[in-house]
Amino acid sequence: MPATTATETLYASITQPPNRVHSTNRPPSLATLKTICSETASTKQYPHCEGIESNVPIYNLLKFDPTDSTTASALQEEWYNILHSGPGVFVLRNMYSDKALLEKVNGVFQKIIDHERSSSAKKGDHFAGNGKNDRIWNSFSKHGLQDPMSFFEYYSNSWLALVSDAWLGPGYCITAQVNIVRPGGEAQTVHRDYHLGFQTAEECARYPKAMHNASQFLTLQGAVAHSDMPNGTGSTRLLPFSQRFEEGFMAYRLPEFNEFFLSKYVSLPLSMGDGIFFNPALFHAAGNNQSTDFVRKANLLQISSAFGKTMETVDGLPLLERCWDALKQKYDVEGFSAEVTAFVSAVAAGYPFPTNLDVRTAAPGGLAPESEQQTVLKALQENWDKQEIIGAINQIREDSRA
Ligand SMILES: [Fe+2]
Repeated sequence: MPATTATETLYASITQPPNRVHSTNRPPSLATLKTICSETASTKQYPHCEGIESNVPIYNLLKFDPTDSTTASALQEEWYNILHSGPGVFVLRNMYSDKALLEKVNGVFQKIIDHERSSSAKKGDHFAGNGKNDRIWNSFSKHGLQDPMSFFEYYSNSWLALVSDAWLGPGYCITAQVNIVRPGGEAQTVHRDYHLGFQTAEECARYPKAMHNASQFLTLQGAVAHSDMPNGTGSTRLLPFSQRFEEGFMAYRLPEFNEFFLSKYVSLPLSMGDGIFFNPALFHAAGNNQSTDFVRKANLLQISSAFGKTMETVDGLPLLERCWDALKQKYDVEGFSAEVTAFVSAVAAGYPFPTNLDVRTAAPGGLAPESEQQTVLKALQENWDKQEIIGAINQIREDSRA
């Protein structure tokens, strides 16, 4: 048999299709992750940031006006680049500058925690899990039902709308979970987040490689600090640039990757009202609260693309109902301001599918039926009362059924 020529070998390597899936039998390359994480971020790449600490760009939002469209799109450009191919994480200082609002919301959270503690048995938690923390699952819905006015203010935040839109585009869905960690609360182990980050390695290996990449584009992970988080209280540990490691969903559970994470992670102190946002594929872990007297409080935000599946079920309709009068009043004063549209984006579905196309025909000029969001905006413009808008949204839902 003739020997294989160099040309044949080269041709074979070119035409050889890559493996469709990652395998638990092919170890991910730690050397590749090390190379990726050896990069250094520069302020030249992100001219609007105030500075870069431990490879994490920091933005002081007091310096910017979210309603200035030139600034807003320049910031969105930088945030997108950071999440996509840069360090994968950034801090928004003073995202919530109204501390009184956060104190009020903390009071609402505490009521929910007290109520759940007295009325329910054991709660599942993949966080600290040692009795040193309090957790509110679906704090988004519970907050809105418990105290509509502070919910309305909190989710009218135009920075939240801007950062969500930067990574996910329109039609995003917000879910939120509160985490309160008392002194002695332990650290998490390194992980990636939802979707594939919540599966076993064996389950992950069943998804084609392209879906490993796609997962990170379907969620924006964030947190709002509801207390100060000084050094030693366990602010999130982060491994900048690690979202770019293609084998990451297969790798983070392996001991050598955990060791590398523990030797290289960074964490930044935060102040109450600061936001931190990161690519869900970034290697990260909550830190341990080493203090003796400091309670760390955060509202975790997991914002989903219109094309993804959220981790929790959120029904915006009862929230819209409770906030309708306040929303109308605000609209009457401000029109479609950044805050009004931010709130509408937070509570009404911006994506009209899945639906029933026999019943719901395309809106004029498009191929898709009108979304709940479009209906809400029309209702504000046409001064509908609460009954009319709730009836219209219910009708959309009824008509969308199979
Ligand atoms: Fe996480």
